[in-house]
Amino acid sequence: MNLLHYTNPTARPIEKIVPITTPSLKERGLTRKDVMQRAKRADDDEFYTQIEDIEKELSMYDKRIWKGKVVFCNCYDAVGENDNETSAFATYFLDNFKKLGLKTLICTHYNGGLNLFNQGVKGYIFRKTGYNVFRSEPDGYTGSFDDPISLKILKEEADIVCTNPPFSRAIDYWKILIESGKKFIIISNESNAINTAYIPYFMNKKVWTGYNSVYWYLNPKKQLVRAAGRWYTNIKIKDRETYKRLKIMPLKKIPDECKKYDDSKHLLVDQGYIPSDYSKPFAVSSNPILNGLLEKGYKIVKDKKYVPYIDGKEHFARVLVQKE
Ligand SMILES: C[S@@+](CC[C@H](N)C(=O)[O-])C[C@H]1O[C@@H](n2cnc3c(N)ncnc32)[C@H](O)[C@@H]1O
Repeated sequence: MNLLHYTNPTARPIEKIVPITTPSLKERGLTRKDVMQRAKRADDDEFYTQIEDIEKELSMYDKRIWKGKVVFCNCYDAVGENDNETSAFATYFLDNFKKLGLKTLICTHYNGGLNLFNQGVKGYIFRKTGYNVFRSEPDGYTGSFDDPISLKILKEEADIVCTNPPFSRAIDYWKILIESGKKFIIISNESNAINTAYIPYFMNKKVWTGYNSVYWYLNPKKQLVRAAGRWYTNIKIKDRETYKRLKIMPLKKIPDECKKYDDSKHLLVDQGYIPSDYSKPFAVSSNPILNGLLEKGYKIVKDKKYVPYIDGKEHFARVLVQKE
């Protein structure tokens, strides 16, 4: 293992400086086909989180959750010499390391990224424990969240995972993360609650939404770009503001234009209206789930998205819920 001291002025003296060079495809274990596929995925994945969004979300959680914990940022969370070369997740946890009482911060850098943070294209692991800061580049390490070394860190060291994973790999990412049993606060697509790949996690209360949506990110040119993201977590939420958006009331009080029945006689409700006196399953969009419906005495009853038809015509996908 090639262990380098991270070049932070407050850290121990630099023992060795290794220039950042661009290794060949062979050295990176990539083929031309891999590179083409990655270029295609880049459009979906290269959305960088802004520090303000991280501060806004993480300020909502009880500070005690961080004390003595190992935080793991495992999706292209570079740590460089300044904020421009550092992912906002790494910046947040480095700036607040002491205040949060963290034991360790571990950030990984993915070798397939677009070198946005000017950190070269090698996978590496950054670690800060107390005042000890160093960076390692294990041989053959890709920096991918599913690299065996990243998985070992997840399983054996991490307490709380916090990052914005790549959209193109979100299904795999969620599976690995949720199966690890670790705590997490991550950003993902706002529509996950009506996507068959994720509905079972919501249904089995393995995940719920955090406090905020995230609509603006930086692209590799550091321009603002819009995408519908949402925070998701398995950490306790308090005082969820969005409960106010759930209009729970007797069915007959729900305006006619916001309720209808589909061809298989399922009730569909819209605009946040939820019947309080209806015992059969009914279909909602993702919004009520994101706004906390499953914490208000309702459960998901079908582990796949529900696609309603009215007069044979397909309507937008929803999820089937029922009063508990
Ligand atoms: C939505 S961006 C977020 C980057 C950074 N975590 C942030 O919040 O600014 C997701 C990043 O994951 C990277 N990525 C793609 N595949 C990955 C993998 N298998 N493992 C780790 N990161 C990956 C992409 O290159 C992209 O930069």
